[in-house]
Amino acid sequence: MLGRTGKAALLAAAMTLAITGCAKEDTGGTTASGVPLIKTGALTTCTHLPYAPFQSKDTAGKVVGFDVALIDLVATKLGVTQEIVDTPFEGIKSGADLNSGKCDVAAAGMTITDERKKVLDFSDPYFDATQALAVVTGKEVTTLEQLAGKRLGVQGGTTGEDYIKAQVAEKKLDIEVVSFKDLAALQQALATNQVEAAVNDLPVWNEYIKANPGKVAVAAGFDTGEQYGFAVKKGNAALLKAVNEAISKAKSDGTYDKLYATWIGAKPAA
Ligand code: ARG
Repeated sequence: MLGRTGKAALLAAAMTLAITGCAKEDTGGTTASGVPLIKTGALTTCTHLPYAPFQSKDTAGKVVGFDVALIDLVATKLGVTQEIVDTPFEGIKSGADLNSGKCDVAAAGMTITDERKKVLDFSDPYFDATQALAVVTGKEVTTLEQLAGKRLGVQGGTTGEDYIKAQVAEKKLDIEVVSFKDLAALQQALATNQVEAAVNDLPVWNEYIKANPGKVAVAAGFDTGEQYGFAVKKGNAALLKAVNEAISKAKSDGTYDKLYATWIGAKPAA
C-alpha cells in the first residue's frame, strides 16, 4: 500500500508525464495575425517532387523553385518558416492532405480546375501554363495523330493526363496512353524510348531542355489555357487571405517579376 506522500509523488509524476507528453505533440497554433497553422512556427507546404522549375531538390538536397520562393513570402509575412512535405499529387489535388492536417498549403504547379475547386480553396492565379508534347530530339512528330500505334507518356493525376485522354477519346486515336507516377519517371521513360512522346506542362519541358540540352524537343503545344493556384483547406479563409496578399504584393513591388526571371526565364509577350 502506498502512503499519502507516496500517492502524491505518483500523482505528481503522472502529471509531469502528461505535461511533457502534451509538449511533444505539436497541435499547432495561430499566428499573431490569426492564421491557424498545423505546426507552431512553421508554414507546412505539401508538394509533389520533382517539378522543376516550380519545386525540385538542388544539389544540396534543399527544395527550391518558383512556388517555394512565393510561399516563402507567405511564411515571412506570417513570421514563420516554410517546411516542405513531399507527397503524391493525388493526395494534394483531392484535398486529402490538407483535410487530414498534413500541411497548411499546397504548392505544386497545380492547375486550378472546377473539379478541384470543389475540394480545395484556391488562391488567385499566379502562373499561366499550357500543355506540350515532347519527343527525343530528331523525331519527326508534330501532331497526336502521328502517334498512332505508339505509346504516349503522361503524368498520373494531372491535367495533362486528362487532356490527352479526352483527345484520344474524342478523336478516336489509336494511342496507348501510359501514366507515370511523377515527372522524373515520365522524363526517364521518354529519354529511354519507353514512350514515343510525353505530355506535361510546357514550363517543365522548357526547364528539362535547359538542364539537358539537345536531348528532348517540344514537338507541339496545346493551348489549354491553364492557371496555377496555391490551395488551402476548404474554409481556411485566414490563410487564403495571407497567400493572396503575398502574391499581390509580390506582383506590385517587383518581387514576382524577379522570381519569375530567376526560376522561369523571360516572360512570354503579353
Ligand atoms: N499542372 C498540372 C496539374 O495541375 C501538373 C501538376 C503536377 N505538379 C507536381 N508538382 N507534380 O495537374
